[in-house]
Amino acid sequence: MQSTCDEFLDEWNLHQPELVAETGQVRVWKVLSKHGPAALKLYRRPDRGNEAPGSALLNAWRDRGAVRIFNEERNAVLMEWLDGPSLGDIARSGSPDDTTRFLAETAARLHGKPTVRVQGLRPLDQVFTPLFNCAFAPTCPTLLPNDVLSAMAMGRHLLNSQPASVPLHGDLHPDNIIMTETGPRVFDAKGYVGDPAFELANALRHPKGMPDLVRGPQQIETCLSLYSKVLRVPKERLAQWAAAKCALSIHWRSDGAIDNDPEADLLNLLLCLSDQ
Ligand SMILES: Nc1ncnc2c1ncn2[C@@H]1O[C@H](COP(=O)(O)OP(=O)(O)OP(=O)(O)O)[C@@H](O)[C@H]1O
Ligand SMILES: [Mg+2]
Repeated sequence: MQSTCDEFLDEWNLHQPELVAETGQVRVWKVLSKHGPAALKLYRRPDRGNEAPGSALLNAWRDRGAVRIFNEERNAVLMEWLDGPSLGDIARSGSPDDTTRFLAETAARLHGKPTVRVQGLRPLDQVFTPLFNCAFAPTCPTLLPNDVLSAMAMGRHLLNSQPASVPLHGDLHPDNIIMTETGPRVFDAKGYVGDPAFELANALRHPKGMPDLVRGPQQIETCLSLYSKVLRVPKERLAQWAAAKCALSIHWRSDGAIDNDPEADLLNLLLCLSDQ
């Protein structure tokens, strides 16, 4: 059984809980702690699952703009409260170019200094394994299986040709960064390890709620050029990881058998770009 919010309020001496976010996997409360305002994130499962190494990485990246973790146990993480709009909010309120720039600067800061050592990070090979066992529903539109198979082949090639591995946030996108008074702060890390070109691949699917922007040729080109420059990785590999990650996300959403998906067109677009 997972422990409840009340149990952690008691155990960690927290006050004035205010539910601020609720998703399929987690609930987040703003609370008062002995450190000041804090965010209490509770997973709906009995433990923190495969996100546990993410906190260790955020701790190691504290001086590079990552959120401060106060405590973690079982299915809960207590961290510093970050006040401000997310980079996703900044894009959705009309300044997507600022978002792209802030995201690039944030990634550069995380990856600019020598690599930190963190135990227990998940290798990208493991993260991608489910994609290689995916299945398709009989009703799946014809183009999508071909594209997923191409993305699988691309994923295999990328995994087999990785340069020296680095720690990766693993989910570095505009809704996992909050612009505070003292600059951008990163949270919600998966804690992966592998090719640095993977780090901003998933960002090509974001910001949330802006499908037309995400599919715009100019936006894609700007992101690929800027992100590959700040990460010092080949632009082509970044585009290829973007396609492979898009396919993996389609699989994660599929409930066993891939069917029509709102990102089928984005996958096709990213594959075309990866081929160039
Ligand atoms: N430290 C924090 N300070 C302020 N708000 C936070 C903080 N942590 C999380 N939040 C809020 O809670 C939302 C959900 O948190 P988070 O991004 O960690 O989980 P998620 O993306 O839903 O979960 P998953 O771990 O499944 O990706 C965030 O988008 C943000 O609005
Ligand atoms: Mg998040």
